[in-house]
Amino acid sequence: MLKSVNCGELRAEHAGQTVTLAGWVHRRRDHGALIFLDLRDRSGIVQVTCDRVANEAAYAVLNAARSEYVVQVMGVVRLRPDGLANPNMPTGDVEVVAEAGQILNEARTPPFYINEDVELDEALRLKYRYLDLRRPAMQKNIILRHDVVHLIREFLSSRDFLEIETPMLIKTTPEGARDYVVPSRVHPGNFYALPQSPQQLKQLLMVAGYEKYFQIARCFRDEDLRADRQPEFTQLDLEMSFIDREDIISLLGELYTQIIEQLGSKPILQKPFPVLTYADAMDRFGSDKPDLRFGMEHVNLSDLLAGSAFGVFSGAVAGGGKVKGIVAPGCASYSRKDLDELAEVAKRAGAKGLVHIAYREDGPKSSAAKFLTESEIDALQQRLNAQTGDLALIVADADAMVVAKVLGELRVLLGRRLGLARKDVHALCWVVEFPLLEWSGEEGRWTAMHHPFTSAMDEDWDLLDSDPGKVRAKAYDIVMDGWEVGGGSIRIHQRHRQSQMFKALGIEAEEAEEKFGHLLEAFEYGAPPHGGIATGIDRTVAILAGIPSIREVIAFPKTASATDLMFRSPSEISERQLQELHLAIRKG
Ligand code: AMO
Repeated sequence: MLKSVNCGELRAEHAGQTVTLAGWVHRRRDHGALIFLDLRDRSGIVQVTCDRVANEAAYAVLNAARSEYVVQVMGVVRLRPDGLANPNMPTGDVEVVAEAGQILNEARTPPFYINEDVELDEALRLKYRYLDLRRPAMQKNIILRHDVVHLIREFLSSRDFLEIETPMLIKTTPEGARDYVVPSRVHPGNFYALPQSPQQLKQLLMVAGYEKYFQIARCFRDEDLRADRQPEFTQLDLEMSFIDREDIISLLGELYTQIIEQLGSKPILQKPFPVLTYADAMDRFGSDKPDLRFGMEHVNLSDLLAGSAFGVFSGAVAGGGKVKGIVAPGCASYSRKDLDELAEVAKRAGAKGLVHIAYREDGPKSSAAKFLTESEIDALQQRLNAQTGDLALIVADADAMVVAKVLGELRVLLGRRLGLARKDVHALCWVVEFPLLEWSGEEGRWTAMHHPFTSAMDEDWDLLDSDPGKVRAKAYDIVMDGWEVGGGSIRIHQRHRQSQMFKALGIEAEEAEEKFGHLLEAFEYGAPPHGGIATGIDRTVAILAGIPSIREVIAFPKTASATDLMFRSPSEISERQLQELHLAIRKG
């Protein structure tokens, strides 16, 4: 190698040793006849000194080095003189006195400082990602990601799982997003689709008898992007035969406990992770991914207000719905503008209105004061356990799900605004018993809430034809600090059940055969009962690193509009490629 030791490894005990270092000039300080170079490689930074008088040849070479030049230095490690040690650097007790040097490559002045931790324009960072990745903060994230994947591989291998690769060029998969498609040159007019996940393949591996499979799998989904979504992302994908839900919950519970306790920096709030039913999660938090690092649970007020003269409340209850509230601590002094803004959020989330009661020093102030009696306002305060200084927010609707969702959004918004979530812990939970289906007004049919291969709960199969909305799935999500980090289910493994499910989804037998014939047929050749899960590696690492965007933990991510600023893709292809692929571009 061009180096005998890594920069970041040098300590006092190395004093007196002759070493060869190679790395990048992190910082250069010129004191006339004496120059200091902070030399950086992946392991860290060490100070190199070069004295013109003591070593003219080395000085002549290294004096030309500038920021980000790649250099090789031969020299002797020595303790820094008294009082000059730098306690902020792991190598701060020593320096390397250069005896010879070589410039391995020059560098243009980078478009941003690599050696300073400052806010940078993300577009610039993504264009020069190879420079951005040199920054210590990014390096830390990428190393953490490696450590997480490494731990996963070891954990699962030691439990008898096999890592098996599955193809990237497959057929459209119904995971709910649009597919990325790849035209076939050999088969004019035909396309592969990139997998939205290896869902069917891992199920087929179970039919094939592999029993315990995992893969660090790349998935592709053409969907609207956000901070926690990328068009291509990575899953820990896993499937097992002869298991039930509890096996996955306990396996993943153990895995995520190890990941957090060995690689994270915060303890887990509750172990084993609490298990909530979907109905519970919606009822208490208005979300299927509740952030359990703070309370602000939804309080049911329906019984108190069923007989209220205020029609908005009593009407909602009479219509089979609910009246519920949350308490925003210390927010009684919110201004008109603040309250209007909350009402706007509530409306956008589907509420017809938002009632507030500010429990102020000089008595309660409410948007519905005219309609509520004093005793109702007092009873509400008691039920909500609101203190003087608090603000109660109340929503009523004949559809209980609307109430849950609106208060759920307000809870998340206020939790963030008021900084309620504990920052010193990770809170994980499982959400189970999701509905199997949800109604799509847009498509005018029932759609699968997870995917069409998810099994109904045994006792609910009979409802599939009579009352599809009531059927609960053997599906589960793992939630961490309010993010959905993973989801999975026990699958359908019998042909007649899979056909029944397709029928419930409005997929005719012929279409099912065309799209999923391979799976239906496989189920006729001895498919074992099986189930699995996939967790987002990007999300897991981002949460562990305490970073709100998964782009920070992906070496080469896409922008929010799915472009790659470094490659400048997507881009046009040549006329010749178009012809080979039998494609013509439609203008306009
Ligand atoms: P699901 O679609 O719930 O399940 O995905 C599992 C996990 O993958 C992560 N994830 C994403 N991460 C980044 N960007 C995205 N666009 C994105 N989409 C999903 C999330 C999510 O929880 N085949 C099933 C799993 C199964 O049933 O076993 C599946 O893919 O962390």
